[in-house]
Order: sequence, then C-alpha cells, then structure tokens
Amino acid sequence: MNYYQENHAAFLEGLKAWLRIPSISTLSEHKPDIRRAAEFALNELRAAGLAGELIEGEGNPLVFAEWTGAPGAPTLLLYGHYDVQPPDPLDEWKSPPFEPEVRGNDIFGRGTSDDKGQTYILIKAVEGLLKTRGKLPVNVKFLIEGEEETGGEHIESYVGTKPARLKSDAAIICDTEMFAPELPTICIGLRGMVYAELHVEGANHDLHSGVYGGAAPNPMQAVAEIICALKDRDGHIQIPGFYDRVVPPSPKEREAWARLPFDERDYTEKEMGARELVGEPGIALLERLWARPTFEVHGIRGGFTGEGAKTVIPARAVAKISTRLVADQDPAEATEQLKKAVAQACPRGVTAELKVLHSAPPSLVNPDNRFIHAAADAMSEVFGKPTVYIRSGGSIPIVAAFEQSLGIPSVMMGFGLPDDNLHAPNEKLHLPNFYRGIEAVARYLDLLG
Ligand code: BES
Ligand code: MN
Ligand code: MN
Repeated sequence: MNYYQENHAAFLEGLKAWLRIPSISTLSEHKPDIRRAAEFALNELRAAGLAGELIEGEGNPLVFAEWTGAPGAPTLLLYGHYDVQPPDPLDEWKSPPFEPEVRGNDIFGRGTSDDKGQTYILIKAVEGLLKTRGKLPVNVKFLIEGEEETGGEHIESYVGTKPARLKSDAAIICDTEMFAPELPTICIGLRGMVYAELHVEGANHDLHSGVYGGAAPNPMQAVAEIICALKDRDGHIQIPGFYDRVVPPSPKEREAWARLPFDERDYTEKEMGARELVGEPGIALLERLWARPTFEVHGIRGGFTGEGAKTVIPARAVAKISTRLVADQDPAEATEQLKKAVAQACPRGVTAELKVLHSAPPSLVNPDNRFIHAAADAMSEVFGKPTVYIRSGGSIPIVAAFEQSLGIPSVMMGFGLPDDNLHAPNEKLHLPNFYRGIEAVARYLDLLG
C-alpha cells in the first residue's frame, strides 16, 4: 500500500473536520466560520510542508501557500474555494448539512463536492508527495479563496495586482464535474455571468386593491412583464444584441459532444426530477447548457405572501435575476444591453432599476497544451479510461482572470458527479472519486515533473 491508500481514513477525518465549519460566504453572520475555514486550510498546507499565510484585505481571507524547491520545473497554481452555499431548505437534508455523514460510498454535507472535498484533493495530493519523498516534482502555489460563491471579486483584484507573486505556468482547479461516473473528464469551458437585482417601484405606499385597482401601477405585475419581455416562451433571450458575440462550438466539438454517453430521459427524470426539458428549439441540449447564454429569475420579493388573503397593491417589488454568458460575450457589454432592455420593457407608472451584484467573463481554454494533455493522461491512468473534454454551464469567475492577468491556462480536473446536488440539499461527494482524485493529481504532478 502506498501513502495514499494507507491514509484513506485520515483523509476522510480531515475533510470531515473542515466540512463541519459552516463557511457560508453569502451570510454575514458566518464571518467567524469563514475565518476558521481559511485557517483550517492554511494549517493543513503548513502541516504538509508548505510555507503560507492568510492574505487579509477587504473581503474574506485568501489562503496562499507555496513550495518552490524544484528550480527549472514548471510552477502550478492550485486553486480552490473554502466558502460554501447556504444549506436551505434545511428540512430536505437526510443528515444535517454541517455534520458530514458517510452513507454507502458517498459523503454527504454542504461543501463535500463544492468545493472543500475537491480542494482537499489538491492539498492531500501535494501532502503525499512531500511526506513520502520530501520534495515535489514541480513547484506549487496554492490560492484558496472564500468568496467564490458570491462572485469572487476580491481574489480577482488580488490576482490582477500580484502577477509576480502568482507567476505560474498553469492553474489547476478541482471544482467541476465528471461527465458520468467512472468517466475521467476535463472541463475546458465555463459560462460567465451577470447577477443583478431588479428594483421596481410604483406608488410610495401600499394601496387598497379595490379602492385604487384600475388606476394604480402594480410593481409586482411590472416585474413579471419585464421578465417576460426579456426571454420569450421558447427560451430565446430578447435582449437586443445579446447573441451578437456568441461563438458557436466548432463542428469537431459538436461531434465530440454527440459521442458522450448521455441518456436524456435519465437526465430529465432522475437527475433533475423534471417532467420535460425546455429551451431554444433546434439547439442540441449540451449546446444549450454549455454554449448558449441564459436568462433566469431566482426569486421575486414583494407584496403579500402571508396566510390568507390580503387585498393590496404593493408599492415595490424586487427580482433577483442573472444571465449566463458564453464566449465571446463581455460582462460589461452584456450589463449595458440588459439595462437598456429593462428600461425598454418597463411599463408605465413604475420605475425599474437594475443593481448588478457581481459579474464574471466566460472562459474557453484551448486544450492543446502540455498541461492539459498531462492531466488527461493522469486521469486516464487512474480511472482506466480515455479522458473526455467537456464544457460546463457553471461559472468559476477566477478562470478568466488567470488567463487575462497571469496569461496562464486553467486545467479543470473535476471529480464531482452530475448527481452531487451542488447548491442543493443532500450535497455529496463520491468517496472513490475523492481517493482516486488525490492519486490522479499526484500522478499529474509527477508526469509534469
Ligand atoms: N463549482 C461551481 C461551478 C461549477 C459547477 C462548474 C459545476 C462546473 C460544474 C462554483 O462553485 C459555482 O457554483 N459558481 C457559481 C458562480 C457564481 C456565484 C459567480 C455559479 O456557477 O453559480
Ligand atoms: Mn465551486
Ligand atoms: Mn458553487
């Protein structure tokens, strides 16, 4: 047995300890947990033999640690995030979100797959090499953030201002999914996004809907009208110019996607638990998910939602909305287009204001470089199958900054599975993927060294 196989139990216990810290970045009352989760990662990296520190600024601490004892060998930037999404709805969890529990071959808990479990894969891979050999085949710099789930604004400015300190040849990210169980996968494309609140105001106070109905503007109705004006019933976005920069996938990529093992019925009924799929007619499913922009409503607040009936015309309403962007859309331009479309769709009698909460560019990585090829080889070896290249509909804001500010490609080796329930109740990580992930990353570092 090698170090990795001998230490399964220790790895699992370590991960559980990290998972018990509810480091929810969207809720300010969890600031102390954010700090504890950052310190946990730093301690792990120090114990593994790296030199590191917390980088404190305006946002949540960044964890930085490095080992640079391999002159002449490549330098890798290992990225992950220690923050997690809120766990609600709580009553749908089979075991409490921050009391990790192993059931069968899976570990359940918030952050298991996204992204503490996967970040831990990187940490343990490096630890194993250092513990058994006293050195690494490559140089490594870890950069682990605590704001990914809220837009990652601060890490972006850090990366922009510290290119010398972060200088590397490629970034390694474990924060994506395998396309199917047992199928080693590298993700080469992510969508970007613009996330915003739509604030609509009508009269300056709530009004009796009988006394004023027929004359008073209704902000709730206005929110609905604006939303319906921005995307038609076919799922086609109606924001002028929005598709102008959308680059279609190459014929080669389309062919490769069509060959991926995929059961649309299982996807719809088992994975999503839905009745049928929707979206732009005539565009293949994977293309809709990976290479087309979206417009989605996440929540609408306002008016009366309590028990029973209350006849009121609310004075204001707010909707949380977002669009996902694909190459070569630009978040600033998309924001302008969205703002204009909102103004145009706004009905009489109300005002509509769009407040952008965060945005991120899309990213598309050219896979023809030795860092990605070696990753594909390492994953194929460990999983015993050829590695597939996919894109993902999700977003990891920092990937575009790695490209733009540091000029390096990101190698996205994901060990999550499609049914991991990211951001949802009963998030899990498949433990065989956890252990194989650690070995695959270790093998990868060796191949590059
Ligand atoms: N790890 C996910 C993104 C992801 C999920 C990529 C699955 C590929 C496959 C990440 O933590 C995430 O959830 N990102 C947010 C970003 C946003 C808040 C800026 C997202 O995509 O909604
Ligand atoms: Mn993530
Ligand atoms: Mn996430």
